[in-house]
Amino acid sequence: MLQDKFGRVIDYLRIAVTDRCNFKCEYCMPAEGIKYDSQTNLLNYEEIIRLVKLLSKEGINKIRITGGEPFLRKDLMVLLRALSEINLIDKIAITTNGTLTSQYIDELLELGIKSINLSIDSLDKSRFNKITRTNQFENVWNCFEKLLKKDFDLKINCVILDGQNIDDIIPMIKLGEKYNISVRFIEEMPFNGSGTYHNVLKWDYNNIIGHIKNNLKNIVALNNEPGSTSINFRVHGYIGRFGIIPAYTRSFCGSCNRLRLTPNGVIKTCLYDEGIFNVRDLIRAGASEAQLLTAISEAIHNKAENGFEAERGRLSNKQIIESMAIIGG
Ligand code: GTP
Ligand code: 5AD
Ligand code: SF4
Repeated sequence: MLQDKFGRVIDYLRIAVTDRCNFKCEYCMPAEGIKYDSQTNLLNYEEIIRLVKLLSKEGINKIRITGGEPFLRKDLMVLLRALSEINLIDKIAITTNGTLTSQYIDELLELGIKSINLSIDSLDKSRFNKITRTNQFENVWNCFEKLLKKDFDLKINCVILDGQNIDDIIPMIKLGEKYNISVRFIEEMPFNGSGTYHNVLKWDYNNIIGHIKNNLKNIVALNNEPGSTSINFRVHGYIGRFGIIPAYTRSFCGSCNRLRLTPNGVIKTCLYDEGIFNVRDLIRAGASEAQLLTAISEAIHNKAENGFEAERGRLSNKQIIESMAIIGG
Protein backbone atom coordinates (compact mmCIF):
# COMPACT_ATOMS: atom_id res chain seq x y z
CA MET A 1 0.00 0.00 0.00
CA LEU A 2 1.22 3.51 -0.81
CA GLN A 3 0.70 5.72 2.20
CA ASP A 4 2.05 9.06 3.32
CA LYS A 5 3.21 10.04 6.78
CA PHE A 6 -0.22 11.52 7.53
CA GLY A 7 -1.90 8.18 6.82
CA ARG A 8 -3.38 9.15 3.46
CA VAL A 9 -3.58 6.18 1.11
CA ILE A 10 -2.61 6.96 -2.48
CA ASP A 11 -4.65 4.90 -4.91
CA TYR A 12 -5.22 7.34 -7.81
CA LEU A 13 -2.56 8.08 -10.43
CA ARG A 14 -2.96 10.97 -12.87
CA ILE A 15 -0.85 10.51 -15.99
CA ALA A 16 -0.35 13.50 -18.28
CA VAL A 17 0.60 11.85 -21.58
CA THR A 18 1.53 14.99 -23.50
CA ASP A 19 2.15 18.67 -22.85
CA ARG A 20 0.83 19.56 -26.32
CA CYS A 21 -2.55 21.12 -26.75
CA ASN A 22 -4.63 22.39 -29.64
CA PHE A 23 -6.25 24.98 -27.33
CA LYS A 24 -4.59 27.88 -25.60
CA CYS A 25 -7.01 28.43 -22.72
CA GLU A 26 -6.38 31.79 -21.10
CA TYR A 27 -6.09 30.26 -17.62
CA CYS A 28 -3.62 27.63 -18.82
CA MET A 29 -1.15 29.36 -21.12
CA PRO A 30 -0.30 32.72 -22.66
CA ALA A 31 -1.52 33.62 -26.17
CA GLU A 32 1.87 32.78 -27.68
CA GLY A 33 1.63 29.27 -26.18
CA ILE A 34 4.27 27.46 -24.16
CA LYS A 35 7.54 25.80 -25.04
CA TYR A 36 6.91 22.11 -25.55
CA ASP A 37 9.37 19.45 -24.44
CA SER A 38 11.05 17.28 -27.08
CA GLN A 39 9.47 13.93 -27.97
CA THR A 40 12.47 11.99 -26.70
CA ASN A 41 11.94 13.39 -23.22
CA LEU A 42 8.43 11.93 -23.05
CA LEU A 43 7.93 8.74 -21.13
CA ASN A 44 7.31 6.11 -23.78
CA TYR A 45 4.38 3.69 -23.55
CA GLU A 46 6.54 0.81 -22.38
CA GLU A 47 7.78 2.98 -19.50
CA ILE A 48 4.29 4.16 -18.57
CA ILE A 49 2.90 0.63 -18.62
CA ARG A 50 5.78 -0.65 -16.52
CA LEU A 51 5.12 2.02 -13.90
CA VAL A 52 1.39 1.40 -13.85
CA LYS A 53 1.89 -2.35 -13.46
CA LEU A 54 4.30 -1.75 -10.61
CA LEU A 55 2.08 0.78 -8.84
CA SER A 56 -1.09 -1.24 -9.34
CA LYS A 57 0.48 -3.98 -7.21
CA GLU A 58 0.91 -1.35 -4.50
CA GLY A 59 -2.72 -0.28 -4.51
CA ILE A 60 -3.14 2.21 -7.36
CA ASN A 61 -6.53 1.25 -8.79
CA LYS A 62 -7.66 4.39 -10.60
CA ILE A 63 -5.88 6.13 -13.45
CA ARG A 64 -6.75 9.41 -15.08
CA ILE A 65 -5.22 10.23 -18.46
CA THR A 66 -4.72 13.96 -18.98
CA GLY A 67 -2.46 16.33 -20.85
CA GLY A 68 -2.24 18.88 -22.64
CA GLU A 69 -4.83 17.28 -24.81
CA PRO A 70 -4.33 13.53 -24.35
CA PHE A 71 -5.71 12.55 -27.76
CA LEU A 72 -2.87 14.50 -29.39
CA ARG A 73 -0.46 11.84 -28.17
CA LYS A 74 0.25 9.48 -31.04
CA ASP A 75 -1.49 6.12 -30.72
CA LEU A 76 -3.13 6.96 -27.41
CA MET A 77 -5.57 4.08 -27.94
CA VAL A 78 -2.65 1.65 -27.94
CA LEU A 79 -1.69 2.86 -24.47
CA LEU A 80 -5.30 2.80 -23.27
CA ARG A 81 -5.73 -0.76 -24.50
CA ALA A 82 -2.62 -1.90 -22.65
CA LEU A 83 -3.66 -0.09 -19.47
CA SER A 84 -7.15 -1.58 -19.66
CA GLU A 85 -5.58 -5.05 -19.63
CA ILE A 86 -3.95 -4.46 -16.24
CA ASN A 87 -6.28 -6.38 -13.94
CA LEU A 88 -5.62 -4.41 -10.77
CA ILE A 89 -6.69 -1.13 -12.40
CA ASP A 90 -10.44 -0.81 -11.77
CA LYS A 91 -11.05 2.50 -13.44
CA ILE A 92 -9.50 4.49 -16.26
CA ALA A 93 -10.83 8.01 -16.72
CA ILE A 94 -9.86 10.74 -19.18
CA THR A 95 -9.84 14.53 -18.96
CA THR A 96 -10.04 16.00 -22.47
CA ASN A 97 -11.00 19.17 -24.32
CA GLY A 98 -13.25 17.09 -26.57
CA THR A 99 -11.92 18.23 -29.93
CA LEU A 100 -10.54 14.87 -31.03
CA THR A 101 -12.44 12.51 -28.73
CA SER A 102 -15.55 11.71 -30.80
CA GLN A 103 -13.77 9.41 -33.23
CA TYR A 104 -12.66 7.13 -30.39
CA ILE A 105 -15.98 6.72 -28.58
CA ASP A 106 -16.73 3.15 -29.68
CA GLU A 107 -13.21 1.98 -28.97
CA LEU A 108 -13.28 3.58 -25.52
CA LEU A 109 -16.49 1.75 -24.73
CA GLU A 110 -14.99 -1.49 -25.96
CA LEU A 111 -12.13 -0.98 -23.48
CA GLY A 112 -14.59 -0.28 -20.67
CA ILE A 113 -13.54 3.39 -20.40
CA LYS A 114 -16.71 5.28 -19.50
CA SER A 115 -15.57 8.22 -17.38
CA ILE A 116 -14.83 11.42 -19.25
CA ASN A 117 -14.28 14.89 -17.85
CA LEU A 118 -14.80 17.41 -20.60
CA SER A 119 -13.58 21.00 -20.33
CA ILE A 120 -16.34 23.40 -21.38
CA ASP A 121 -15.83 26.88 -20.01
CA SER A 122 -18.85 28.51 -21.60
CA LEU A 123 -22.10 27.56 -23.33
CA ASP A 124 -21.84 30.74 -25.35
CA LYS A 125 -19.88 30.21 -28.56
CA SER A 126 -18.07 33.54 -28.60
CA ARG A 127 -17.14 33.34 -24.92
CA PHE A 128 -15.97 29.75 -25.32
CA ASN A 129 -13.87 30.64 -28.32
CA LYS A 130 -12.36 33.65 -26.58
CA ILE A 131 -11.41 31.72 -23.44
CA THR A 132 -9.93 28.79 -25.37
CA ARG A 133 -8.54 31.01 -28.16
CA THR A 134 -10.06 28.67 -30.76
CA ASN A 135 -13.18 28.29 -32.87
CA GLN A 136 -13.98 24.81 -31.65
CA PHE A 137 -17.23 25.35 -29.74
CA GLU A 138 -19.49 23.38 -32.12
CA ASN A 139 -17.00 20.54 -32.37
CA VAL A 140 -16.79 20.22 -28.59
CA TRP A 141 -20.55 20.50 -28.14
CA ASN A 142 -20.99 17.79 -30.73
CA CYS A 143 -18.65 15.57 -28.74
CA PHE A 144 -20.63 16.30 -25.55
CA GLU A 145 -23.85 15.16 -27.24
CA LYS A 146 -22.25 12.02 -28.64
CA LEU A 147 -20.83 11.04 -25.25
CA LEU A 148 -24.23 11.57 -23.66
CA LYS A 149 -25.95 9.36 -26.20
CA LYS A 150 -23.50 6.58 -25.43
CA ASP A 151 -24.13 6.85 -21.71
CA PHE A 152 -20.68 7.94 -20.56
CA ASP A 153 -20.22 9.02 -16.98
CA LEU A 154 -19.73 12.63 -17.97
CA LYS A 155 -18.44 15.59 -16.01
CA ILE A 156 -18.04 19.10 -17.36
CA ASN A 157 -15.11 21.14 -16.03
CA CYS A 158 -15.66 24.88 -16.10
CA VAL A 159 -12.95 27.20 -14.77
CA ILE A 160 -14.60 30.32 -13.36
CA LEU A 161 -13.04 33.50 -14.72
CA ASP A 162 -13.94 36.91 -13.39
CA GLY A 163 -15.62 39.06 -16.04
CA GLN A 164 -15.85 36.22 -18.54
CA ASN A 165 -18.11 33.27 -17.81
CA ILE A 166 -20.05 34.19 -14.68
CA ASP A 167 -23.24 34.33 -16.76
CA ASP A 168 -22.65 30.70 -17.69
CA ILE A 169 -22.89 29.36 -14.16
CA ILE A 170 -26.67 29.11 -13.94
CA PRO A 171 -27.26 27.85 -17.52
CA MET A 172 -24.56 25.22 -16.92
CA ILE A 173 -26.35 24.00 -13.79
CA LYS A 174 -29.62 23.95 -15.74
CA LEU A 175 -28.11 21.39 -18.12
CA GLY A 176 -28.80 19.05 -15.22
CA GLU A 177 -32.52 19.50 -15.73
CA LYS A 178 -32.37 17.18 -18.70
CA TYR A 179 -28.92 15.59 -18.67
CA ASN A 180 -27.50 13.13 -16.16
CA ILE A 181 -24.14 14.89 -15.89
CA SER A 182 -22.07 16.57 -13.27
CA VAL A 183 -20.97 20.15 -13.92
CA ARG A 184 -18.00 21.28 -11.83
CA PHE A 185 -17.02 24.90 -11.38
CA ILE A 186 -13.30 25.18 -10.72
CA GLU A 187 -11.52 27.92 -8.84
CA GLU A 188 -8.91 29.42 -11.13
CA MET A 189 -5.36 28.44 -10.16
CA PRO A 190 -2.08 30.20 -11.03
CA PHE A 191 -0.89 27.47 -13.44
CA ASN A 192 -1.22 29.68 -16.52
CA GLY A 193 2.30 29.50 -17.89
CA SER A 194 2.93 33.20 -17.35
CA GLY A 195 3.78 33.60 -13.68
CA THR A 196 1.03 36.15 -13.18
CA TYR A 197 -1.94 35.79 -10.86
CA HIS A 198 -4.43 38.00 -9.04
CA ASN A 199 -3.51 38.84 -5.48
CA VAL A 200 -6.97 37.78 -4.44
CA LEU A 201 -9.13 35.20 -6.16
CA LYS A 202 -12.54 36.79 -6.51
CA TRP A 203 -14.48 33.70 -7.62
CA ASP A 204 -13.57 31.34 -4.85
CA TYR A 205 -15.82 28.60 -3.49
CA ASN A 206 -17.80 31.00 -1.26
CA ASN A 207 -18.54 33.49 -4.01
CA ILE A 208 -19.45 30.80 -6.51
CA ILE A 209 -21.90 29.07 -4.15
CA GLY A 210 -23.22 32.48 -3.04
CA HIS A 211 -23.94 33.43 -6.64
CA ILE A 212 -25.68 30.12 -7.24
CA LYS A 213 -27.83 30.37 -4.12
CA ASN A 214 -28.84 33.91 -5.06
CA ASN A 215 -30.09 32.68 -8.41
CA LEU A 216 -31.45 29.18 -7.84
CA LYS A 217 -33.72 27.68 -5.22
CA ASN A 218 -33.97 24.17 -3.81
CA ILE A 219 -30.28 23.33 -3.77
CA VAL A 220 -29.53 20.12 -1.94
CA ALA A 221 -26.04 19.23 -0.67
CA LEU A 222 -24.93 15.74 -1.70
CA ASN A 223 -22.54 13.32 -0.01
CA ASN A 224 -19.05 13.64 -1.44
CA GLU A 225 -17.11 10.49 -2.25
CA PRO A 226 -13.87 10.12 -0.27
CA GLY A 227 -11.04 11.84 -2.16
CA SER A 228 -13.49 13.89 -4.24
CA THR A 229 -12.13 17.20 -5.47
CA SER A 230 -15.62 18.65 -5.78
CA ILE A 231 -18.19 19.63 -3.20
CA ASN A 232 -21.39 18.45 -4.79
CA PHE A 233 -25.01 19.60 -4.98
CA ARG A 234 -28.23 18.94 -6.83
CA VAL A 235 -31.13 21.18 -7.65
CA HIS A 236 -34.16 19.36 -6.31
CA GLY A 237 -35.88 17.56 -9.20
CA TYR A 238 -32.89 17.70 -11.59
CA ILE A 239 -31.28 14.49 -12.82
CA GLY A 240 -27.82 16.04 -13.08
CA ARG A 241 -25.57 17.37 -10.32
CA PHE A 242 -23.19 20.25 -9.95
CA GLY A 243 -20.11 20.79 -7.85
CA ILE A 244 -17.46 23.32 -6.97
CA ILE A 245 -13.77 22.41 -6.93
CA PRO A 246 -11.88 24.59 -4.40
CA ALA A 247 -8.67 23.99 -6.31
CA TYR A 248 -7.08 27.23 -5.14
CA THR A 249 -8.40 27.41 -1.58
CA ARG A 250 -7.36 23.77 -1.26
CA SER A 251 -9.83 22.57 1.33
CA PHE A 252 -9.76 18.91 0.26
CA CYS A 253 -6.08 18.14 0.82
CA GLY A 254 -6.81 16.13 3.98
CA SER A 255 -8.35 13.35 1.91
CA CYS A 256 -6.02 13.61 -1.09
CA ASN A 257 -5.40 10.23 -2.70
CA ARG A 258 -3.50 11.41 -5.80
CA LEU A 259 -0.07 10.94 -7.33
CA ARG A 260 0.93 12.66 -10.58
CA LEU A 261 3.19 11.72 -13.45
CA THR A 262 4.05 14.47 -15.95
CA PRO A 263 4.67 13.80 -19.67
CA ASN A 264 8.45 13.79 -19.20
CA GLY A 265 8.40 11.56 -16.14
CA VAL A 266 8.35 13.92 -13.18
CA ILE A 267 6.64 12.49 -10.11
CA LYS A 268 4.55 15.06 -8.27
CA THR A 269 2.97 14.23 -4.94
CA CYS A 270 0.99 17.49 -4.93
CA LEU A 271 -0.31 19.65 -7.76
CA TYR A 272 1.42 22.64 -6.13
CA ASP A 273 4.87 21.07 -5.67
CA GLU A 274 7.66 21.61 -8.18
CA GLY A 275 8.12 17.93 -8.87
CA ILE A 276 9.85 15.51 -6.54
CA PHE A 277 12.09 13.54 -8.91
CA ASN A 278 12.25 12.29 -12.48
CA VAL A 279 11.32 8.62 -12.70
CA ARG A 280 12.18 8.49 -16.43
CA ASP A 281 15.82 9.17 -15.57
CA LEU A 282 15.77 6.34 -13.04
CA ILE A 283 14.18 3.96 -15.54
CA ARG A 284 16.65 4.90 -18.26
CA ALA A 285 19.55 4.44 -15.86
CA GLY A 286 18.43 0.82 -15.45
CA ALA A 287 16.60 0.94 -12.11
CA SER A 288 14.99 -2.30 -10.91
CA GLU A 289 11.33 -2.56 -9.85
CA ALA A 290 12.46 -2.48 -6.22
CA GLN A 291 14.51 0.68 -6.78
CA LEU A 292 11.64 2.42 -8.57
CA LEU A 293 9.25 1.46 -5.82
CA THR A 294 11.58 2.67 -3.09
CA ALA A 295 11.95 6.08 -4.76
CA ILE A 296 8.21 6.49 -5.34
CA SER A 297 7.23 5.25 -1.87
CA GLU A 298 9.70 7.63 -0.27
CA ALA A 299 8.32 10.57 -2.25
CA ILE A 300 4.80 9.61 -1.20
CA HIS A 301 5.83 9.20 2.43
CA ASN A 302 7.06 12.81 2.37
CA LYS A 303 4.02 14.22 0.56
CA ALA A 304 3.24 17.74 1.79
CA GLU A 305 0.38 17.96 4.26
CA ASN A 306 -1.50 20.27 1.90
CA GLY A 307 -1.14 22.41 -1.21
CA PHE A 308 0.03 25.42 0.82
CA GLU A 309 2.90 23.49 2.35
CA ALA A 310 3.79 22.10 -1.09
CA GLU A 311 3.80 25.61 -2.52
CA ARG A 312 6.00 26.92 0.30
CA GLY A 313 8.42 24.05 -0.30
CA ARG A 314 9.11 25.05 -3.91
CA LEU A 315 12.84 25.66 -4.23
CA SER A 316 13.79 26.92 -7.67
CA ASN A 317 10.58 28.76 -8.54
CA LYS A 318 8.82 30.07 -5.48
CA GLN A 319 6.32 31.68 -7.78
CA ILE A 320 4.22 29.31 -9.85
CA ILE A 321 5.13 29.73 -13.52
CA GLU A 322 4.09 26.36 -14.96
CA SER A 323 1.27 25.84 -17.42
CA MET A 324 -1.35 23.28 -16.42
CA ALA A 325 -0.64 21.61 -19.77
CA ILE A 326 2.65 20.25 -18.42
CA ILE A 327 1.11 19.05 -15.16
CA GLY A 328 -2.13 17.54 -16.36
CA GLY A 329 -4.45 19.20 -13.88
P1 GTP B 1 -12.65 12.96 -10.71
O1 GTP B 1 -11.70 11.84 -10.70
O2 GTP B 1 -13.77 12.78 -11.67
O3 GTP B 1 -13.09 13.42 -9.35
O4 GTP B 1 -11.87 14.18 -11.37
P2 GTP B 1 -10.79 15.16 -10.85
O5 GTP B 1 -11.46 16.36 -10.32
O6 GTP B 1 -9.80 14.44 -9.97
O7 GTP B 1 -10.02 15.47 -12.22
P3 GTP B 1 -10.07 16.56 -13.36
O8 GTP B 1 -8.93 16.21 -14.27
O9 GTP B 1 -11.40 16.66 -13.98
O10 GTP B 1 -9.73 17.90 -12.61
C1 GTP B 1 -10.67 18.88 -12.31
C2 GTP B 1 -9.99 20.06 -11.64
O11 GTP B 1 -9.59 19.66 -10.34
C3 GTP B 1 -8.74 20.54 -12.38
O12 GTP B 1 -8.70 21.93 -12.37
C4 GTP B 1 -7.64 19.96 -11.54
O13 GTP B 1 -6.48 20.72 -11.65
C5 GTP B 1 -8.25 20.03 -10.16
N1 GTP B 1 -7.60 19.05 -9.29
C6 GTP B 1 -7.53 17.70 -9.47
N2 GTP B 1 -6.81 17.14 -8.49
C7 GTP B 1 -6.42 18.16 -7.68
C8 GTP B 1 -5.62 18.23 -6.52
O14 GTP B 1 -5.10 17.24 -6.02
N3 GTP B 1 -5.44 19.45 -5.97
C9 GTP B 1 -5.98 20.57 -6.49
N4 GTP B 1 -5.78 21.73 -5.87
N5 GTP B 1 -6.74 20.55 -7.60
C10 GTP B 1 -6.93 19.37 -8.19
N1 5AD C 1 -6.97 26.71 -12.95
C1 5AD C 1 -7.96 25.81 -12.73
N2 5AD C 1 -8.20 24.76 -13.55
C2 5AD C 1 -7.42 24.64 -14.61
N3 5AD C 1 -7.43 23.72 -15.59
C3 5AD C 1 -6.42 24.03 -16.45
N4 5AD C 1 -5.77 25.11 -16.04
C4 5AD C 1 -6.38 25.53 -14.90
C5 5AD C 1 -6.16 26.62 -14.01
N5 5AD C 1 -5.19 27.52 -14.21
C6 5AD C 1 -8.38 22.64 -15.66
C7 5AD C 1 -8.98 22.46 -17.06
C8 5AD C 1 -9.12 20.98 -17.20
C9 5AD C 1 -8.47 20.40 -15.97
C10 5AD C 1 -7.55 19.27 -16.21
O1 5AD C 1 -7.74 21.43 -15.38
O2 5AD C 1 -10.22 23.06 -17.13
O3 5AD C 1 -10.47 20.61 -17.24
FE1 SF4 D 1 -5.32 22.68 -23.42
FE2 SF4 D 1 -6.42 21.88 -21.15
FE3 SF4 D 1 -4.64 23.82 -21.09
FE4 SF4 D 1 -7.02 24.27 -22.21
S1 SF4 D 1 -6.62 23.73 -20.04
S2 SF4 D 1 -5.02 24.84 -23.10
S3 SF4 D 1 -7.52 22.33 -23.09
S4 SF4 D 1 -4.25 21.72 -21.65
